[in-house]
Amino acid sequence: MTSLDEIVALCKRRGFIYPGSEIYGGITGFWDYGPLGVELKRNLKNFWWKHMVELRDDVVGVDAAIIMNPKVWEASGHTKAFADPLVECKICHQRSRADNPQERKLHEEKHAHDNKKVEWTEPKQFNLLTEVLLGVTEPKTSAFLRGEITQGVFVNFQNVVSSTRVKIPFGIAQIGKAFRNEITPGNFTFRSREFEQMELEFFIKPDEEEGEKWFSYWKEERLKWYQRLGIKPENLRFRDHRDDERAHYARKATDIEYQAPFGWSELEGIHHRGDWDLSRHNLTYKDKTTNEEFTPWVIETSGGVDRTILFLLLEAYTKDGERTVLKLHPQLAPFTAAVFPLVSNKPDLVKKAESVYSLIQQAFRVSWDDRGNIGKRYFSQDEAGTPFCVTVDFTTLEDETVTIRNRDTAKQERVPIGKILGYIEEKMKEDSL
Ligand code: GAP
Repeated sequence: MTSLDEIVALCKRRGFIYPGSEIYGGITGFWDYGPLGVELKRNLKNFWWKHMVELRDDVVGVDAAIIMNPKVWEASGHTKAFADPLVECKICHQRSRADNPQERKLHEEKHAHDNKKVEWTEPKQFNLLTEVLLGVTEPKTSAFLRGEITQGVFVNFQNVVSSTRVKIPFGIAQIGKAFRNEITPGNFTFRSREFEQMELEFFIKPDEEEGEKWFSYWKEERLKWYQRLGIKPENLRFRDHRDDERAHYARKATDIEYQAPFGWSELEGIHHRGDWDLSRHNLTYKDKTTNEEFTPWVIETSGGVDRTILFLLLEAYTKDGERTVLKLHPQLAPFTAAVFPLVSNKPDLVKKAESVYSLIQQAFRVSWDDRGNIGKRYFSQDEAGTPFCVTVDFTTLEDETVTIRNRDTAKQERVPIGKILGYIEEKMKEDSL
């Protein structure tokens, strides 16, 4: 299994993810995406939007503000109940989540090396909302950075219903940043204090059977979606929440978990939120044909952008002798193609390669490399996950063909310049499962 250290090193070396504010010693729980990471993240979010919004007739999107009126968080129950239980080690005062036995066990093992037995304090509840101060004059107004992006959907429920033609059952999708004052950020980006979520709130009739039907439907849809990204079925599983661990808003909850090097870990939460949120915000829905008015129930799918990226990198990282290959889904790879002039000191060849580069650039994200020998360039692109390497050589100058090398098979094909875009498009389709 790929270790987390291998991925952390790759991310830093190749510009996927860097520690936040690194030149000032970093800041716990915050991470910055570099040139390759930002492309992967954009591609992932587009892939999600395509499948959850564009390819469906029953979902629309919103993009709500990060800071909302604090009354939203009072009504939603977050100011009271959005808390994690925290315990403190009586030897070194390190804090740990009381509901994370794995984390506490590791800590206990550390002290066991010095023949010390850890005693923990009684659990205390710590609220996860991050407070901010607004305004220029004292006293400033206190508000919160959103702890889940979800509430921005609910407060716009009425706006969406009255400004569009949506009819129950329908969904509102959103992607955006959320912030949590996590007690123990860690495992690289897995638990951060600033992260991104991609969520669907799906509104249904308040009916037990409907609830069961849509909860099962979305569980299966979301599991398939992660498999479509290239995650092996054996590395994914459902885990139902026990009654004592469910969030305050959930009637029922199941996680999709990934088999990470640090154990099975939550990738996405599927929640049956019932009428918790809409009734808290005093919102109802009126059926335009029957005039029936009711408080819809909500089935939610809530995935983490950063966790998906971390798990995709773990899944894609492959060692093949000396070669490190990042076998990312071609539609997610930061660069779809790279263009190389065989040599960099022949102006005719370089000019031709530049024109091939410009051609591909019109349709796909493309990288240019004319350093060192071809073998080294292939190695470098394999590690970045680039699915297609296009080489312009002396034959190109004679017959207008290039070689295209496939990242995963390392096989090369000769393709006419005029057919490069069609070739890549076809292969991307083939690979998109
Ligand atoms: N609206 C429901 C909600 O926020 P959640 O289970 O608390 O549910 C959903 O979070 C997803 O957000 C998680 O499955 C995870 O992927 C991501 N997530 C939550 N906390 C995170 C953190 N501290 N760092 C990174 N991702 C996080």
